Amino acid sequence: MNSKPHFLLDCDPGIDDAFAIFCALEFAHLDVITTVSGNVSIENTTRNALHILELAGAEVPVHRGADRPLRVEPVTATEIHGNSGLGTYVTPEPDQREQPTGATQAILNYCSSGDAVIVATGPLTNIALALDADPTVADRISHLYWMGGGTTRGNVTAFAEFNAWCDPDAVAVTMASGINLTMFDLDLTNQVLFGASEVTRLREASTTRATFLADALEFYQLSHDASTAGKAMHDPCAVLGFLRPDHFTFRSSNIVCSDTDGEQRGRTLVSFDGDELLHRVAVTADSKEVIDLILMAIIDPGGAQ
Ligand code: RIB
Ligand code: CA
Repeated sequence: MNSKPHFLLDCDPGIDDAFAIFCALEFAHLDVITTVSGNVSIENTTRNALHILELAGAEVPVHRGADRPLRVEPVTATEIHGNSGLGTYVTPEPDQREQPTGATQAILNYCSSGDAVIVATGPLTNIALALDADPTVADRISHLYWMGGGTTRGNVTAFAEFNAWCDPDAVAVTMASGINLTMFDLDLTNQVLFGASEVTRLREASTTRATFLADALEFYQLSHDASTAGKAMHDPCAVLGFLRPDHFTFRSSNIVCSDTDGEQRGRTLVSFDGDELLHRVAVTADSKEVIDLILMAIIDPGGAQ
């Protein structure tokens, strides 16, 4: 029986974050969830994380994180994720309670023994705050997998992807920290599109979780350009890039956040040249296989080896 990998998920649920949590529960030992403000407020991202775990029948400690970026004014993406962060669903008070310690301390505790793996699917504020509290934590993170950035494009401005734009200073701090990381940017995640057929596959499952996510997915798709085959399912790519790397290709690189203000705020500049390449960019995804893995995590939980 192969033991599943362990990791901490830092997220801002968020509809695609919800799909990522189900992937994490299916293919790994999800040890800890830390929440961050991003798609919606920290109140809502934290409540949504707890609710998604209840829907999944999973008990994972949830630690509330930053309620705003390091410096810039907070923004949200309610036009894509709905006011609650889960489409039109009004998330009830969860039965499961959040942990008393905040996300920064939870991240430092989780990394204390070294070789920690973190997957981040929101703004990098919590990672930056942990680095600020103890810069040596970078030495105890074996790898950070981040959904964010845009090598050739943005989705907030022409240059900036939402997670990077939301907290550009946190991106700059994280990229400069010495942490080995892999970035799953918009060029990658737009290879994994969820359209009407994925909604149908979820509805045909006729389970509470699949129906809930089908409803959320239909809301999420309202914001996409109808000319495409569907809406990019961003966040599960970072989780599966860690847990099923054979379905992706990567290039060594160095990534910087070229601007934390102005017109190019949040732009991630990627260089593939140089001697010491600390980072990687995920370049291609086996789209069909990745889509099938995401749906399997929801439709056939417990089926993963
Ligand atoms: O740009 C896409 C990213 O921003 C995803 O993580 C989505 O959940 C939002 O946080
Ligand atoms: Ca997210």
